[in-house]
Amino acid sequence: MVEKIILDTDPGIDDAMAIFFAFQAKQLDVLGLTTVYGNVPVEMSAKNALALVELANVNIPVCKGVGMPWVGEESTYAHFVHGDDGFGNINHPAPKGELDSRSSAQFIVDTVKKYPNEVTIVAVGPLGNLALALRLAPEIQHLVKSVNIMGGAAFTLGNVTPVAEANIWNDAHAAEIVFSAEWPINMFGLDVTYKVPFSPTFMQELSKVNPVLGGFVKRASEFYADFYSQGKEQKECFFHDAFPLAYIMHPELFEMTTGHMRIGTDELHRGQTSFAPIGSTMSPYWLNAQKVNVATKVKHADLTQLFIDTYALD
Ligand code: RIB
Ligand code: CA
Repeated sequence: MVEKIILDTDPGIDDAMAIFFAFQAKQLDVLGLTTVYGNVPVEMSAKNALALVELANVNIPVCKGVGMPWVGEESTYAHFVHGDDGFGNINHPAPKGELDSRSSAQFIVDTVKKYPNEVTIVAVGPLGNLALALRLAPEIQHLVKSVNIMGGAAFTLGNVTPVAEANIWNDAHAAEIVFSAEWPINMFGLDVTYKVPFSPTFMQELSKVNPVLGGFVKRASEFYADFYSQGKEQKECFFHDAFPLAYIMHPELFEMTTGHMRIGTDELHRGQTSFAPIGSTMSPYWLNAQKVNVATKVKHADLTQLFIDTYALD
C-alpha cells in the first residue's frame, strides 16, 4: 500500500537526503513539502526545498511556514553544520519555480482534511508548523494517521544541550503542543540516529547508484561530515531525518518503546524529551501526559541497505 505523507522540513543536508529518499520510495506518496526555520532561516529553507523538488523533477506544492519559535527570540540557526546555504556551500543554482501561496500550517490542515485518516505527517525540523496547524484546526489531531518525528533524545544525551536535541530545543513550546495532542506519535531521536554513522563510502555508493540525487547528497555532505568528524579519525556524518520515513516503509527495522512524554520548556530543560516508559513511574506529571512510541533500537546494516536500494530505483 502506498502511504500518503506530508514532509515538514528545514533543508538542511540530512533533510535533503531524506527528501530524495522519500521521492524515490515507491511506498511513499509525498503530497507536499512544508518548510520551517531551523537549520537555516525559513526563507532559505523554503527556497532550498523548492530547489530539491526541481532537481528531483517532482511536481508537488512547497510551502513556507513559521520563521520564529512559538515563544522567545529568533533562532541562531545551524550554518556551522549545514553551510551558509544549507547545502554545504556547493553553489547549487537557485530554484526557478514558485512557492505554494498557502502557509505550511494551512497546507497541513487542508491536506489532512482532504484525506481523513490517510496522511502521515513526517516532521524533521522544529515543530512550529504542526503546532500552528493544531491551533488553526484542532480536529486534525483526530484525522491524521500518525505523526513521525525526527527529534528528541529519550535515553541519550542531547546535541544542543546535555538534555535537548536541536529540533525540539529550537521550538520547545511548539513541541509541547504537538506532543500533548491526541494523535499517534512515533519519535525517532538521537537514541537511534546517532547509532548509525555514515562513512564517505556510503555517500560514494549513493552517488554511484543515483548520480543526480545521490551525487547532490555526496557533494553537500562533505561540509556536513567535516563538522561531525571533528576530533575523530574517520570521516562520518548522520542522516537523522531519513529515519521516520524508513519506519513507514519497514517498521520491522526498529524497536519501539511506549511511554509518556513531557517536554521541558524552562530555560535549563528547554527542549528536553523526558520519557517514562509504561510502568516506570507513578508520577501524575507523566501518567497524565500523552503516550508516544519512541524508537530505541535500529537494525543498522538493513537500514543502510534500504537507503542505497531506494536511491537506486528508477
Ligand atoms: O538534531 C538533528 C536534527 O536537527 C535534524 O533534523 C537536522 O536536520 C536538524 O534539523
Ligand atoms: Ca531537519
